[in-house]
Amino acid sequence: MIQLRILIVDDESNQREMLAGFLRKIGHLVTTSESAEAAQEVLKSHSFEIGLFDMKMSGLSGFELFQKVHARDPEMQVILITAFGNVESAVEAMRAGIYHYISKPVNLGELQELITKAGERHFLLSENRQLRERLEQLEVDEIVGISNRIKSLLSEVARVAPTDATVLITGESGTGKELLARSIHQLSPRNANRFVAVSCAAIPETLIESELLGHERGAFTGAEKRRLGRFELAKGGTILLDEIGELPLSIQVKLLRLLEERRFERLGGEEEIVADVRLIAATNRNLLDEVKAGRFREDLYFRVNVVHLHIPPLRERREDIMPLVDHFLKLSAAKTNRSRRGITPAAKDLLIAYEWPGNVRELANVIERATVLSRTDTLDAVDFAQLRGDNAAAGVTQTPLNMPLRDLEKEHIENVLKANEFSLQKCADILGIHRNTLRQKMKEYGIEKPNGDDEM
Ligand SMILES: Nc1ncnc2c1ncn2[C@@H]1O[C@H](COP(=O)(O)OP(=O)(O)OP(=O)(O)O)[C@@H](O)[C@H]1O
Ligand SMILES: [Mg+2]
Repeated sequence: MIQLRILIVDDESNQREMLAGFLRKIGHLVTTSESAEAAQEVLKSHSFEIGLFDMKMSGLSGFELFQKVHARDPEMQVILITAFGNVESAVEAMRAGIYHYISKPVNLGELQELITKAGERHFLLSENRQLRERLEQLEVDEIVGISNRIKSLLSEVARVAPTDATVLITGESGTGKELLARSIHQLSPRNANRFVAVSCAAIPETLIESELLGHERGAFTGAEKRRLGRFELAKGGTILLDEIGELPLSIQVKLLRLLEERRFERLGGEEEIVADVRLIAATNRNLLDEVKAGRFREDLYFRVNVVHLHIPPLRERREDIMPLVDHFLKLSAAKTNRSRRGITPAAKDLLIAYEWPGNVRELANVIERATVLSRTDTLDAVDFAQLRGDNAAAGVTQTPLNMPLRDLEKEHIENVLKANEFSLQKCADILGIHRNTLRQKMKEYGIEKPNGDDEM
């Protein structure tokens, strides 16, 4: 059974307590209110998966309460308790979006079943929303920056994007090489087809050829079916060979041939396939050094390095730091569904002065972390204490090396809960797990909310 947070609103204390008792007994977390007005107060600071509202109350009716709740939290599923025989208005209410109604006297079996189904529906809706948000996020890939170096980079992008020229993007880790490659693809006539990114460093040497070119059935032991390689998947589109410096020499020869002849064969195959792709290569190494050291073929280097775009590290363009901070504050707010945080002048100074060895990726992580952990609306220098190497202030402690993972998990969950006043949804978001998983783990580790009689 999935444990649900249920808000019961009923002005009749007998019925309210009876329902609450039953739902608690079958394992749910129940909060009760004696009026719609009181419920609205509770809802300001807490959210519930299910609402069980009496239709007729002095003051706002259950349906009116639903309308107010629904505007704010469309995922909360509301069940109305109606007087016997009052089916017509109940059906009307269902049209308006309540999950279901149940008539008095409430049949507990029926109630249990309704609650379970409503819980499933809630879960589905929130999953859908998360998916949608993730998709929307994928679409936001605006390159932020006001420095002259970023501006001239962007004008070069605009110039080369419409061509089919091979582009080499260099820059330290986290500077935005993949983002830039995607923008080139999006601004090119190939944008209706796929952008395929391959991290050359992530694929074992023995598999890389078949990963890139594909293989025929029986090409090698284990090749039970024909498989299309990344070059074929990117047909008509763009392929990004990330960390191209990591490509083994044997593969470099094949890639060179592919780029020269614009065709290739699948592993174990005869058929010639036209390589209709635009190649973008990226690396955080200095490829010329690799050439000198004999680890990268010179002829391939010239093939790849037709147009060279270099993204400077963040510390060499500090004017971009604050626009990026604003950008990530906005994104984090959207992600966590909260209003955008401000930032104090002291925190600003700290962020601008920092060296950013991990570049923009590190900046994005720092902002997200501060947004999630801070309890104030305005982020201050203490929220970025880890940038000063000030571990204690940042709440970072050294983990003993003999600590079992289980204890570490328990401790971390406890810390996050305490730092967020035991708001389960918020903590689940921070921990990246579902609320129900969090509840399960709290139970398992015996973590309890302090003096909480009305469980949330
Ligand atoms: N100028 C920018 N504006 C907005 N976001 C950026 C910018 N530069 C980088 N980012 C973001 O920073 C993160 C890291 O960027 P990306 O993955 O493109 O870096 P990378 O250079 O490919 O890193 P690595 O070398 O580690 O693979 C991404 O989330 C990206 O969207
Ligand atoms: Mg990358």
